[in-house]
Amino acid sequence: MNREINKLKIMERREMMKAYDEGEEDIIGDQSAGLEQPPLEKPSIGTEFIPLTKDFENVIKNNDFLNLLNTRSSKRKYSNKSITKDELAFLLWATQGVKNVIGNQRKATIRTVPSAGARHPFETYLFINNVEGLEPGLYHYLAIDHKLEFLKTIDHQKEQVSEAYGEQTFFGNAPVGFVWTAVPYRSEWRYSLDAQKYALLDAGHVCQNLYLSCEAIGCGACAIGAYEQKLADGLLGLDSKPNYEKENEFVIYAAAVGKID
Ligand SMILES: Cc1cc2nc3c(=O)[nH]c(=O)nc-3n(C[C@H](O)[C@H](O)[C@H](O)COP(=O)(O)O)c2cc1C
Repeated sequence: MNREINKLKIMERREMMKAYDEGEEDIIGDQSAGLEQPPLEKPSIGTEFIPLTKDFENVIKNNDFLNLLNTRSSKRKYSNKSITKDELAFLLWATQGVKNVIGNQRKATIRTVPSAGARHPFETYLFINNVEGLEPGLYHYLAIDHKLEFLKTIDHQKEQVSEAYGEQTFFGNAPVGFVWTAVPYRSEWRYSLDAQKYALLDAGHVCQNLYLSCEAIGCGACAIGAYEQKLADGLLGLDSKPNYEKENEFVIYAAAVGKID
């Protein structure tokens, strides 16, 4: 790509970082147009369900907030120790846990993280390699029910995941690889052309909660922004092609997690 085209593309992308106000009066979001609200989360597609605890008393090792802030860093080397199911339950709860479902006709989830308009336009998937009592494979978090569902085993999971995530083998080999997809319409239904920016802002809160909650239980995390879209979507069985379908879903962020010696 030559430098001039590159500059133009960069400028185009920068526009997404701004609040949308150009010709705003012409834009009517789907909610204002009276269209039906999309579901609060993706319906279950798994074959096996794993209930998760909300009792985290025995899981937390460090409850000193200042200390958590001071020790937080990106950690890419993990011990061989398994993560327990209860520890994993805590990390899922801390990142996307649903505390309340509010509203009657127009519902919203109130979670452990903030999200513009409580839209929470994400799904959480896990590549599991080393969690006590769970077979390696791909799992999906059912946030409203606080359950995991097993989706499938992946041949040569460590290698395929590493390849899709920029040859970052520490992610492919990590005891758990968190992957967050965006379901943009959940936010676009209300916020139209501001929704994409909001979704990216929202994603930051999710991963920061993962970092801090990992520190609290003797684990370490490292955010992953580098990946190949088609390969990463393909591993989850998603289609990377741009489309305006309401269920359109694609990877936007990930993080490696493991125990620290
Ligand atoms: C949006 C985002 C994307 C990142 N992507 C990667 C990545 O793909 N691979 C990696 O090793 N670290 C990644 N990191 C971690 C950063 O390199 C790390 O946060 C930074 O070097 C500062 O170090 P600290 O987190 O230990 O303070 C990412 C961090 C963020 C916030």
